Amino acid sequence: MRKILKWIGIVVGGLVGLLVLAFLVLAVVGGAKASKKYDIPVETATIPTGAEAIQRGEHIAVIFTCTKCHTENLGGEILFEVPGMVSIPTPNLTTGAGGVGGLMTDADWVRAIRHGVGHDGRALLIMQSNTFHFLGDADLGALIAYLKSLPPVDNTLPERRIELLGRVMMAAGMFPPPAVDKIDHTGSLPLAPEPGVSVAYGEYLSRTCTECHGANLNGAPFGPPGQEILTPNLTPGGWLNAWSEEDFFTTMRTGVTPDYRPLNEDMPWKNFGQMTDDELRSIWLYLQSLPAREQGGG
Ligand code: HEC
Ligand code: HEC
Repeated sequence: MRKILKWIGIVVGGLVGLLVLAFLVLAVVGGAKASKKYDIPVETATIPTGAEAIQRGEHIAVIFTCTKCHTENLGGEILFEVPGMVSIPTPNLTTGAGGVGGLMTDADWVRAIRHGVGHDGRALLIMQSNTFHFLGDADLGALIAYLKSLPPVDNTLPERRIELLGRVMMAAGMFPPPAVDKIDHTGSLPLAPEPGVSVAYGEYLSRTCTECHGANLNGAPFGPPGQEILTPNLTPGGWLNAWSEEDFFTTMRTGVTPDYRPLNEDMPWKNFGQMTDDELRSIWLYLQSLPAREQGGG
C-alpha cells in the first residue's frame, strides 16, 4: 500500500513538475512573442498641409474609430486591463507630455497605421491595422497631417504590461494575433476609389466593419476570449434585409434599431454616425449588393 502511494506521489509530482515546466516554457515563448521586433519597410507617404486636408484627416480619425480607442482628444487612456494579466494603454498620440507625437517620423506613422508596428518596432496589440491597411494614400496622408496638427495633451500613461499569465496565454494562442501578423506587407495596395456615392466606395469604407462583422460581413464571434458574442449578419441573408435605407441611417446615427433595440457600445455607432450621408449611403449600397449569406461564426 505504502509503495503504491509512493508511486502515485512520484507520478503526480512528475505531472505537476511537467505542468510547471510547460507553463514556464510558454511564459518565455509568450514573452518573446510580445517583445518581438518587426522590421517592416514602408511606402513613402506624402503628407499634405493645409486646413482642408487636416479637416479631412479629422473626419477619418472619427469614422475609422481612432478617437474611440485613443479618446476624443487622442490623449490616450488605459484601454484594456486585467490585473495580473495585461495592461494595454492606447498611446497619447499628441506632442504633449507623455505623448509619442514628437517621436514619430512620417514613416513611423505609416508603419503604425498601415502595418501595425509601433515606432519602437513592437507589434501593436488590439489595434486593427489590418483594416486600416487599405486606407488610400490621400486619406492616410490627411489622417497623418491631422495627427501632426493635434494640440498637445499632457497625459503620461504607464507602459504596456504583459504579466506572466498574459504571456502564457499569448503563447498558447488565447489572444487574437496582432494585426501585423494578418497583413500581407509585400502586397500592392488597391487604389482607393474616389469618394462619392458608389458600391466601390462603400466597400472601401466597409473594411472597417469586417473587423467585427467578419470578412464576409455575415457576422463573427466578437469580444474578449471566453466572453464572445456573435455580431449580426449585415448581408441580405440577415434581418437587415427587411430594413430601408432610412432604417440603416437611423440605426447608425442613433444606436437604436428599427425594433427599438439600443445597440451596446461595442458597436462604434457614435463614430459611424458621424459619416456623411454619401458615406452611409455607399455602405448601404455595398451591403445590399452582397450575396445573401447565412449568419456566420456560429
Ligand atoms: C481598437 C482600439 C484602437 C483603434 C480603433 C485604434 N487604435 Fe491606435 N492603438 C491602439 C492600441 C491598444 C495601441 C498600443 C498597442 C500596443 O502598445 O501594443 C495603439 C497604438 C497606436 C499607434 C502607435 C504609436 C507608437 O507608439 O508608435 C499609433 C500611431 C496609433 N495607434 C494610431 C491610430 C490611428 C491613427 C487610428 C485610427 C485610424 C487608431 N490608432 C485606431 C488601439 C487602437
Ligand atoms: C468594434 C466592433 C464593431 C465594428 C467595427 C462594427 N460593428 Fe456593427 N456591431 C457590433 C456589435 C457588437 C453589434 C451588436 C450590438 C448589439 O446587439 O448591441 C453590432 C451591430 C450592428 C448593427 C445592428 C444590427 C442589428 O439589428 O442588431 C448594424 C446595422 C451594424 N452593426 C453595422 C455596422 C457597420 C455598417 C459597420 C462598419 C461601418 C460596423 N457595424 C462596424 C460591432 C461592431
